[in-house]
Amino acid sequence: KETETEKYQKRNQESKRRTREKVKGKTNQNRTITNKRNSGYTRNPKDRRNNKAKHRKWDIWDKKHLLLPCSKRNTYTRVQQNNKKVFSKWDYIRSLLEMEIGNWERLSQIMIKINPAFQKDNLIPLKSFLNERIDEEKQKHFYLRLLPKIQELALSLPKELDLYNKPIPLLLKWRLNKVELPRTLIASLLACSFFCLIPYGDTVSKRPPFLNRANFTKMYLGKEPMSASNENKLKSFLHYFETITKNGTPNNGSVGFYRNRLDKIPDWKNSNKNLSELIINSDGLIEDSKDHLHVDFANKYVGGGVLGNGCVQEEIRYTICPELLVSCMICEKLEKKETLLMIGAKRYSNYKGYGRTFEFVSGYIDKPVLNSKTHCASQIIAIDAKNFSKMDPNLQFSPKYLNREIEKIYCGFRRLKINQFDSRPIATGNLGCGVYAGNIELKALLQLIAAAEANRNIVYFTFNNAQFAEDLKKIYSLLKNNKYKISQIWNLLLQYFNSDQKNTYSIFQFIIQKNCEKKNELVVNNENRKQNTIQKE
Ligand code: AR6
Repeated sequence: KETETEKYQKRNQESKRRTREKVKGKTNQNRTITNKRNSGYTRNPKDRRNNKAKHRKWDIWDKKHLLLPCSKRNTYTRVQQNNKKVFSKWDYIRSLLEMEIGNWERLSQIMIKINPAFQKDNLIPLKSFLNERIDEEKQKHFYLRLLPKIQELALSLPKELDLYNKPIPLLLKWRLNKVELPRTLIASLLACSFFCLIPYGDTVSKRPPFLNRANFTKMYLGKEPMSASNENKLKSFLHYFETITKNGTPNNGSVGFYRNRLDKIPDWKNSNKNLSELIINSDGLIEDSKDHLHVDFANKYVGGGVLGNGCVQEEIRYTICPELLVSCMICEKLEKKETLLMIGAKRYSNYKGYGRTFEFVSGYIDKPVLNSKTHCASQIIAIDAKNFSKMDPNLQFSPKYLNREIEKIYCGFRRLKINQFDSRPIATGNLGCGVYAGNIELKALLQLIAAAEANRNIVYFTFNNAQFAEDLKKIYSLLKNNKYKISQIWNLLLQYFNSDQKNTYSIFQFIIQKNCEKKNELVVNNENRKQNTIQKE
C-alpha cells in the first residue's frame, strides 16, 4: 500500500514532469516561431502581428513597388513528408552566395539552383564567355577577385535598403512620379540582376505592371555561344562592378528617375514662336557631348534589349552607364505623351563600333560636378519614337502620327520642375530613324518644332551622315532666315501629307519648293501693287 508521503512524492514528480514538458514544448514552439520569423514567413496570425511590429519599411510586396529578392514575401514551397512547406528564398540565396565560388562548376551549380530555367541549356552563352573568350589571367581574376565582390554587393542589399528605409516605388503609367536612389543601393540591385535574383525579372512582363526584364537571364540562356556584342556588353558591366568595388572609388550621390507626362498640348497650328538655335555635327556622338540633355532613342520598355540581344543607341547607352538599368526594373512601359528623365547616372566605359561591331574598349572616368545635387548630373531623356518598320512609311506624315510624335518629343524636351532652371541644350540626332525606320527629315523638323516650343537649343549629331548634315543646315537656314513660325512649319507638314508631291519630293524639297512659290507670289503681288499705283497715278 502506498503511504501518503509516497503518493505526495509521486504527484509532485508528475507535476514537475508536466511543467518540464510544458517548458520544453514552449521553447520548441518558440524555436519554430523564430525559425519561421527568420525565414520571414508565418501562417499564424498572432505571429504575423508580431512580424508587423518588426516590419522593415522597405519591405512592401505589391504591384506598386519593386519586388525585392530579400523581401520576406519572396518565398518558395517545397513538399516535405507530404506537407507543403514555405521557405524564404532570400535565406536560400544567402546560403548559396555566402559560399566561395571560385570556378565555373560551382558558379553554374549555384546559378541553376537559383534559377531553374538555366537547367535546360546549361548556360552555354555564359560558359562560352567565361571559359573560352577571356584569357586565363582574366578568368582567374574574375572567379577569385571580382565574383566575390559581386556576391558581397548582392548580399548587402538588405543593409542598403535599411539605410534607404523606404520601399522603392514603381514609376507607373499615367502617374507623375519620381525615384531617387543612392548609387550604393543601385550597385546592390545590379549585382542581384547579375545573379538573376530580381523576382519576376527574367522576362518582359506581360501583365501589369508592364516592366522590362530586370535580370541578366536572357544573356546567359541559349544554345549558342554568346554573341560578340553581348560579350562586350557583359565586359562593360563587369567593368562597372570592378570600378565601383575598387577601394577609394567615390560611390556617393544618387540617380534620379522622373516619369514625365504631357497634360497640356501646345497649339501647334497657332504657335508664334521662332526656331531656336541649332548646331549640326556630322561627327561625334550624343554621349560625348558635355553638359547637354542627352536623348535616349528609347523603346517603350525603357532600356529596350539591353539585357537581351539589342545593341544600338539605347542599349549602348545603358551598357556604358549601367546605373540606368534600374529604370528597366522600375519604369512601366511608356505610354503616349510620356517620357522618362534620368539624372545623375555616371558613365563607366568607352566603346567603339555599333550594333554587331560594338566593342568595349576601356574604362571611362566621369568627372564629378561637385556643386551638383546629384554629384554627377548627367541628364538623359528617354523618348520612344513610333516604330514604323512594319508600317506603310507614308503613314508617318498623317496627322495622327505627326501628333503622336510631336507630343512625345515635346514631352521630353520641355523643362520639368527638376530641371526648370537648367539651360543646357538638347543633344539629339536621328531619333526613331534606325531600327524604327522613321523619316530622318521629318523627325529632324519635329525635333526643331518641339525644341522651339520648349525654348531650348539643339545640338544635332547626324552620326557621320555628312550629306544629311548639309541638307539640314540648308533647310534650317531657309526657315530661320525667312523667320518661319512654328505654326507655319507645322502647317507645311500637314500640307505635305495631303499633297500629290509626296511621292516625288522629300519633305525638305517640298518646303524649299513652297518657299519659292511663296517668294514668287510675293514678287508677283509686289509687281501688281506697283502697277496698280502707277495706273492710279
Ligand atoms: N549618337 C548620335 N546618333 C546616334 C548614336 C549616337 N550615339 N547612335 C545611333 N545614332 P536607333 P530608333 C543614330 O536605331 O530607330 C533600340 O533597340 C544612328 O543614325 O537606336 O529610335 C531601342 O530600345 C541610328 O540609325 O533608334 C528601341 O527599341 C539612329 O541614331 C529602338 O532601338 C537611330 O538609332 C529604337 O530605334
